[in-house]
Amino acid sequence: MVSRAPVFEFILLSCYFWLHCSSENFIFNGFKQATDRLNLVNSTKITKDGLLQLTNDTNNVLGQAFFLSPIPMIKINENVSEAISFSTSFILDIVTVGSAGGHGLTFAIAPSKELPEAYIANYLGLFSPSNNGNFSNHVFAVEFDHVMDNGLFNDTDDNHVGVDLNSLKSNTTHKAAYFSNQNSMVEFRLESGKPIQAWIDYNGTSKILDITVAPLPIPKPSRALISYHVDLTPIFKNEMYVGFTSSTGKLASSHYIIAWSFSNEGLAQAIDLSRLPKFPHPPGTITVSRSEVIRIGILSTVVTLTMIAILFGVSLYLWQRSKLAETIEDWEKEHPHRLPYKDLYRATKGFKETEILGTGGFGHVYMGLLPKTKEMVAIKKISNNARQGMREFVAEISSLGRMRHRKFGTWWSSVDGAKETKIFSWYTSL
Ligand SMILES: *[C@@H]1O[C@H](CO)[C@@H](O)[C@H](O)[C@H]1NC(C)=O
Ligand SMILES: *[C@@H]1O[C@H](CO)[C@@H](O)[C@H](O)[C@H]1NC(C)=O
Ligand SMILES: *[C@@H]1O[C@H](CO)[C@@H](O)[C@H](O)[C@H]1NC(C)=O
Ligand SMILES: *[C@@H]1O[C@H](CO)[C@@H](O)[C@H](O)[C@H]1NC(C)=O
Ligand SMILES: *[C@@H]1O[C@H](CO)[C@@H](O)[C@H](O)[C@H]1NC(C)=O
Ligand SMILES: *[C@@H]1O[C@H](CO)[C@@H](O)[C@H](O)[C@H]1NC(C)=O
Ligand SMILES: *[C@@H]1O[C@H](CO)[C@@H](O)[C@H](O)[C@H]1NC(C)=O
Repeated sequence: MVSRAPVFEFILLSCYFWLHCSSENFIFNGFKQATDRLNLVNSTKITKDGLLQLTNDTNNVLGQAFFLSPIPMIKINENVSEAISFSTSFILDIVTVGSAGGHGLTFAIAPSKELPEAYIANYLGLFSPSNNGNFSNHVFAVEFDHVMDNGLFNDTDDNHVGVDLNSLKSNTTHKAAYFSNQNSMVEFRLESGKPIQAWIDYNGTSKILDITVAPLPIPKPSRALISYHVDLTPIFKNEMYVGFTSSTGKLASSHYIIAWSFSNEGLAQAIDLSRLPKFPHPPGTITVSRSEVIRIGILSTVVTLTMIAILFGVSLYLWQRSKLAETIEDWEKEHPHRLPYKDLYRATKGFKETEILGTGGFGHVYMGLLPKTKEMVAIKKISNNARQGMREFVAEISSLGRMRHRKFGTWWSSVDGAKETKIFSWYTSL
């Protein structure tokens, strides 16, 4: 009976400890409501669509976003301090305008909610040339690096995921890829402008760090890309801050986090892909302002009207041409002095009424000016009804022509443009 009191007290104490600070479990399906729960540093902002934008595509900018509440990362197990297990999942999107951007982003666990010494360019908004590799940093990070820097950091390629312990010289890296089954690996580009999901799970007991990445909407592959044995106990302080960092340099990209879930008690909650905010614009698509919309509207109207005018002109021309087209009958070919209907049409201004000189038995006689020779002529237009006997009539005129009669030309033409009226014309020099 007497021994119960201290046991009870011990349970109370650990309960208090557990409730107060042991468990942290949150999810952001988009960041619209996250402004007062994150520390947004420098270029970092939450876009109006609810995306966490670490950097825009401006050169030499730095972004950091850390969850405001500190998270216990060390537990006491049988008098021994030990890094706890944690699990996180997030969706990142790296959008580059042009061919090559930079430099990448990291998921970071750091001793403060801002890293004031951090540098831009290949330092990913995490470290600086003076503190890179220093054990006193107490920083664990997973880098998503899309620029190769083999001079400073021994990067092996320009598209990798790496584990960084106090240093951007990664302790282990792998090309961005996922296992579609136990043995076959599919590579993909981090800098694709498309959303990519990452899962980072650390088991504090087995000390296995699993990192898995895959383009949306592929579900979590059963085999991790990186499975790395590492004791994070010396890296972690009792309380740490979790978040993201990024930077641009001479090369620039927009680095976004679309959604984020974190837990230090079991697996992080699954991100609901149906509740994500609108993704960033992929490269190549144009984003336009209202004035540009108006300008484009006016421009396309002008282009459309021009097209209509051109089409109208072309069809008018084709219609004119068809009107002037002619069918030559066999017997007409025997006559060498044939004038095309086109010329007679032009000479009489289209058989205009004002050009009529008189009307004879077969039809009207028009005054005309032949376009090529500038000869003034009289042209007789014979209607279809009068076709009978036309052959003989033409033969007669032709024979006159062969006698080179001065006042009576032998040029003639016929047309079938209107399909119904066969028009036969001849002219004589005036
Ligand atoms: C990009 O971010 C920088 C730093 O925050 C800011 O000065 C600049 O105006 C931003 N550029 C655009 C186009 O938003
Ligand atoms: C824990 O530490 C206390 C006092 O320092 C000691 O009495 C106890 O035996 C230790 N327990 C274990 C499991 O090492
Ligand atoms: C953030 O920007 C301010 C002013 O632009 C600068 O003084 C500060 O060093 C930057 N912070 C970091 C962590 O680079
Ligand atoms: C590197 O670490 C030591 C202690 O380990 C510390 O005194 C020193 O200031 C650190 N240097 C930088 C640049 O942070
Ligand atoms: C990079 O790796 C090479 C060997 O692979 C090594 O000689 C060199 O020192 C490394 N550089 C750095 C900065 O660690
Ligand atoms: C990780 O890499 C850093 C820098 O290269 C090195 O100092 C450290 O010992 C490595 N840590 C582990 C656990 O391999
Ligand atoms: C962590 O590792 C231990 C030892 O291998 C194992 O018993 C435990 O189930 C693991 N925990 C999780 C959450 O996988």
